Amino acid sequence: MAGEKNAVTAAPPCAIVIFGATGDLTARKLLPALYNLTRDGLLSKSTVVIGFARRPKTDDEFRAEMLEAVNKFSRCKPVDPELWSNLAPRIFYHQSTFENADGYHALADRLAEVDKKFNTGGRRLYYLSTSPTEFGQIVERLGDAGLGNIDPFNSTAWRRAIVEKPFGRNLDTARELNHHINRVFDESQVYRIDHYLGKQTVQNLLVFRFANGIFEPIWNRRYVDHVQITVGETLGVEGRGGYFENAGTMRDMVQNHLMQLLTLIAMEPPVALDGDAIRDEKVRVLKSIEPFHTPQEVAMRTVRGQYTPGSVDGKPVIGYLQERGVAPDSQTETYAAVKLNINNWRWHGVPFYLRSGKHLKRQGSEVSIHFNSAPGILFNAPGGNLARNILTLRIQPKEGISLLINAKRPGTVTRIAPAHMDFEYNEAFGSYSPEAYERLLLDAMLGDSTLFIRRDEVESAWSIIDRIEEAWAAGTPALSRYEPGSWGPQAANELLARDGRTWDWLGSDIS
Ligand code: BG6
Repeated sequence: MAGEKNAVTAAPPCAIVIFGATGDLTARKLLPALYNLTRDGLLSKSTVVIGFARRPKTDDEFRAEMLEAVNKFSRCKPVDPELWSNLAPRIFYHQSTFENADGYHALADRLAEVDKKFNTGGRRLYYLSTSPTEFGQIVERLGDAGLGNIDPFNSTAWRRAIVEKPFGRNLDTARELNHHINRVFDESQVYRIDHYLGKQTVQNLLVFRFANGIFEPIWNRRYVDHVQITVGETLGVEGRGGYFENAGTMRDMVQNHLMQLLTLIAMEPPVALDGDAIRDEKVRVLKSIEPFHTPQEVAMRTVRGQYTPGSVDGKPVIGYLQERGVAPDSQTETYAAVKLNINNWRWHGVPFYLRSGKHLKRQGSEVSIHFNSAPGILFNAPGGNLARNILTLRIQPKEGISLLINAKRPGTVTRIAPAHMDFEYNEAFGSYSPEAYERLLLDAMLGDSTLFIRRDEVESAWSIIDRIEEAWAAGTPALSRYEPGSWGPQAANELLARDGRTWDWLGSDIS
């Protein structure tokens, strides 16, 4: 795993072709990431970026737009003029529709020129940042134009494809897409992205578990009561109604980001820190998740919700149904919660509760491990209400780790109160933190696929989600509503209450 290297390696020169270059992702994430890699000396001074999109535009216009974007969205700003004047002449724009074969032949000519002029050695990184409906045809056209597969083990002139989410909308479409892609690119050349894996704190989950000796012995059903994984967002769908209508929170967040967090928490120690060893273990977890057999099981173990109109901090907020691009009778969920059981030796009987939603009370991503109570004697005698120990791994914000313990309150009588042992990244290491896309782009250029999703991983995740989506599409359970600025629908509280448990409060794990 590249994360284990102490010295960060700079990427070899290559040509990065971004399909859908006029879209939001290029401006907000990709170009700022490439600029910051340049700043950190990790992007070769010969690497070339070619934006491929439909709209007519000159190279200069594209460069000007990208400069504006980097100035606006980069973690380091304002842009250093000297660095930019070095990078800008290596940014180009290629106009073509995604279906037009000629556009790809012209791209091939352009790439050949680039190889000669900038010594990029035939190394190409294709970034598919278009609507997912275009992925299949882009890959096919690349193949037809001779821009696809070459010997995947040729380490000097490689070709790799980064594919953005959503990767399909169910198991069938994911398989179909995989089939299309693997006809042109060998699996070792395919980098399916989940930006959560690019987050430092997500990578730290593995370091936390496998670089410390004290946690692994208690990381199992004998000591853990249950696990909660939450990704809460305070914003609504913010004009992405059209996209969201086709996704919903289960597909947009749970199938990928939350399931990825679950695999990293639940996996067995890998035999090595390399891409395949780690992903083998992640797939084993996904395969051990108890499937949903009937709609009744889906009704008992999942909740779907949609935010209504309301107000947050005294300001009116429109409901999901009033968002642009949303059908007036839409049943799409903006909140999802699910209880998953992992039927393996380590986790049998330990539920994993996952939830995510838009317009919730707090913003934040957290994993919390709730340990078994102390024996019901001494300080925990019946009638008392001693808190359980909870280990909270804060992915964002206030990245850090805290352990809830019981402590004696100062005083002449023995009174016990929960207290936190807290570790914060910024305090310990300073605030430097590269953005997820920086790490992921660098890894793809270096050929390290550890932090990308393998074909069997994506398919295994869909096979669990599909059963839920099928029941939901048939109306089971019914869609619940919730007020913006709340913790989500009441039904989500009931999901845990049935098991005698409650959800954590994000940012404060005293439940
Ligand atoms: C994206 C989803 O993958 O992740 C968005 O499509 C969501 O709906 C976003 O807002 C959340 O990412 P982050 O990094 O802000 O937690």
